[in-house]
Amino acid sequence: MEPARVHITAYGCQMNRLDAELVRAILRAAGAEVVEDPGAANVLLFLTCSVRAHAEDRVFSNIGALAARKQREPDLVIGLLGCTAQQYGERVWERAPLADVVCGPGRLAELPALIDQARAGRRARALDPRRGEAGAEAFGPADSRLDGIEVRGREGERSDRRAFVRATRGCDMFCSYCVVPYVRGPERSRPPRAVTEEVRRLVDGGVREVMLLGQAVNRYAGEDGGHMWDLADLLAEVAATPGLTRLRFITSHPTALTPRLASVFRDVPAVCPHLHMPAQSGSDAVLARMNRGYTAADYLDRLAMVREAAPEVAVASDFIVGFPGESEADFEATLDLVRRARFAQCFVFKYSPRPGTTAARRYVDDVPPEEKRRRNQELLNVVSQVAAEENQRLVGREVEVLVEGPSPRPHLNADGQQRRTHAGWIQWRGRTRCHRLVVFDGPPGLRGEEVTVRVERAAAVTLFALFCETTA
Ligand code: SAH
Ligand code: SF4
Ligand code: F3S
Repeated sequence: MEPARVHITAYGCQMNRLDAELVRAILRAAGAEVVEDPGAANVLLFLTCSVRAHAEDRVFSNIGALAARKQREPDLVIGLLGCTAQQYGERVWERAPLADVVCGPGRLAELPALIDQARAGRRARALDPRRGEAGAEAFGPADSRLDGIEVRGREGERSDRRAFVRATRGCDMFCSYCVVPYVRGPERSRPPRAVTEEVRRLVDGGVREVMLLGQAVNRYAGEDGGHMWDLADLLAEVAATPGLTRLRFITSHPTALTPRLASVFRDVPAVCPHLHMPAQSGSDAVLARMNRGYTAADYLDRLAMVREAAPEVAVASDFIVGFPGESEADFEATLDLVRRARFAQCFVFKYSPRPGTTAARRYVDDVPPEEKRRRNQELLNVVSQVAAEENQRLVGREVEVLVEGPSPRPHLNADGQQRRTHAGWIQWRGRTRCHRLVVFDGPPGLRGEEVTVRVERAAAVTLFALFCETTA
């Protein structure tokens, strides 16, 4: 049989982006070739997301669109992997009859065998039990084989010198709207040594920025020889890795934001002044129905604690508009929270009822679609206004940028001109330590470098800057 040529499309959150990277590495190690062009592949894998109906629909329609190709190439293997596989279980075949492989996010290490089976002509699946039907032990160890992949296999992804590293798997928060606890299984923390060793290998391989991942990552509780580590312990240890200059962690849950964690922003230099702590709503009644476990005032208290320790921390949030029963006054409370909290960045989502969740069972999805759209737009307007005002404070300052690559769509420059300061310069794009997006003109060869730039102009999302120098 000709060797497998695999293409992976990932949807959804950073967890899926990390899983895609690990799946590529594990398949390469099993002898497969990973290709950039889906047209050149004989195995097409989709790493799916079920967090909103829209995310699911997109995957099902993209897989459905492969019908003609599958007829032409009967040996083509299609894999539906990740959260949607776990959400639907066997019934996923009703919506994606073309799938040959179905594999839940906890079982991705089994993919080489599943793909072999499918290429031999037999449908293959690996799913965890449904949450509630089995104890936590049925979901495998906290540190799956996927997380132990050698850095060598991940080198291909490393040109921008950033890497995701898992700190926790799963989620036990059961926010009433959310499918994640059901599809990603129980919350488990990887052993601290597994995390620190993985980071060391990555940094030895050239990585400078590490983002520790977990759905409520600040609930981290890892065990090492009888000692319990919290996230502050883990961050301090990881930050000590020689060569690591930037350390981030996402996503934080407001109920687990401790004074110890807040002090890390002040005391551990490698930890970036960037906190992603979703508020979801500014209305106490809505927060209670969401099962979030805090009020808007609690949220602002946590924020005050962080800013007292480290005033420069840029805070990002997620919001859901149109949650069941959200009144105009509830929505106004959300706008009010955004204005008070001075967020640097927010992601806004329209509520989407998810089968199997408490909210879908208990509450009627009673905010009409056009009203959800209006609130979505109005919240985005306020978010942009606040972010633009916050960004304004950076104008005139020098900031450090880790360069991700050339600007995909070159912007006008700070002075509104399409200008290259020197012949041969191109427009680069990167992020500040506080995770703000920066574009600037600079010499070739800056990808993966840390540079100093001076901010000339600030918009809601982007800072426009002038290149100063490459940081040693
Ligand atoms: N674990 C992370 C994020 C998980 S999903 C956290 O708790 O912050 C990312 C975002 O999707 C959530 O923060 C929430 O704002 C949004 N989301 C989750 N379920 C949703 C639903 N049913 N409808 C609309 N948005 C949803
Ligand atoms: Fe979903 Fe809440 Fe867990 Fe985040 S903390 S993944 S929103 S249940
Ligand atoms: Fe989506 Fe799964 Fe992430 S449902 S948001 S890909 S954990």
